[in-house]
Amino acid sequence: MRAVDIIIKKRDGGILSNEEIRFFIEEYTAGKIQDDQAAALMMSIFFRGMNYKETAALTLAMAESGEQVDLSGISGIKVDKHSTGGIGDKTTLIVAPIAAACGVPVAKMSGRALGFTGGTIDKLESIPGLSTSIPVGKMVEIVNKTGICVAGQTAELAPADKKLYALRDVTGTIESIPIIAASIMSKKIAAGADAIVLDVKYGSGAFMKTKEDAQKLADTMCGIGAEVGRRTVAVLNTMEVPLGMCVGNAIEVKEAVETLKGGGSDDLKKHCIHLAGKMISLGLNVDEDMGEKLAQERISDGSALKKLAEMISTQGGDPEVCEDPDKVFGITAYSKVIKASKSGYIKYTDAYKIGMAAFTLGAGRTVKTDPFDPNAGVKLYVKCDAEVKRGQELCVLYSSKPISDESVRWAKSAFEFR
Ligand code: URA
Repeated sequence: MRAVDIIIKKRDGGILSNEEIRFFIEEYTAGKIQDDQAAALMMSIFFRGMNYKETAALTLAMAESGEQVDLSGISGIKVDKHSTGGIGDKTTLIVAPIAAACGVPVAKMSGRALGFTGGTIDKLESIPGLSTSIPVGKMVEIVNKTGICVAGQTAELAPADKKLYALRDVTGTIESIPIIAASIMSKKIAAGADAIVLDVKYGSGAFMKTKEDAQKLADTMCGIGAEVGRRTVAVLNTMEVPLGMCVGNAIEVKEAVETLKGGGSDDLKKHCIHLAGKMISLGLNVDEDMGEKLAQERISDGSALKKLAEMISTQGGDPEVCEDPDKVFGITAYSKVIKASKSGYIKYTDAYKIGMAAFTLGAGRTVKTDPFDPNAGVKLYVKCDAEVKRGQELCVLYSSKPISDESVRWAKSAFEFR
């Protein structure tokens, strides 16, 4: 088999066989196929697409390119959740403890922030002392004891995807639905869960800009799940405006705690109950209405918050964060309130622009090894459909360094008046 024949076949609209896809991925991971040929194949797939069978074969080849996590030492149906990224997305910090408090084992691997989108691992690591570098054996041990563990993805998980993602990033081939679907699902499958809940976002602050594309991505990923024998369900959610009222790292942990205490904004609460309901439904084999009811009960009786505190403490962090987060995170050195320049109605608050405000405040990173400021972020006071008076506070910016004009510009420009 030759790489060039596989590229030509896809370039001309052919259907690749399982063997051809596997050959290409294995040889590329081993360094025997070079970046130029891999980029040519990615571009051919970008234009010609892939059917479900090809996409499933690509997914499995990437999943099997490295370590495959064995969670069989944990009894019960292990349910994973994946959000396709966004602004203010702290759902894992809320739904994972809810599901675990219902008895669904959660052994989850999460990623870090890149660009303007946040990452669960950075949010968790803003809690002093908390570690997410947990070997698989230890993760199994922790989940058997407490029912929950959220760890960082190891370098050995789906290395083919890691290599291809970096290549796609610089060759204009990120936005291909079959490749994105294979990229996400390869990591989920390698991470070992029995069932997967996908939280697919669309809008200005998401990868998928339209609901139609998000639906196609969701259908493709659910199709892959079915093809490889992992029950997979998807939820679509808008990312035109940030999820909840806080964007950053420590500030999002605080908002997650508030939500688990029964407070928080309605959009965040509703979305998390919906996602948790699906996880519980898959994990306990109950219908989704019952899943949502149980999720709500675990918030009301305080057991979900207790589960988060247990998880934080088991992973070395200070569980006081669940009682008095301000005491743990301290006071951020710099802050600036943004006020309305006129009276009127706020049509919406643009997710991408708030994400960029948070990013320039120090909450994000350009490359995965960049440091980030755990205390940087944005707290919104209004989001959509609010009537405001001139001079009313719209949001506050936080950073450990002086607030830049650029951050202020991004934040001000996010508020669209009707
Ligand atoms: N997230 C991923 O993991 N992969 C993609 O290709 C896009 C988003």
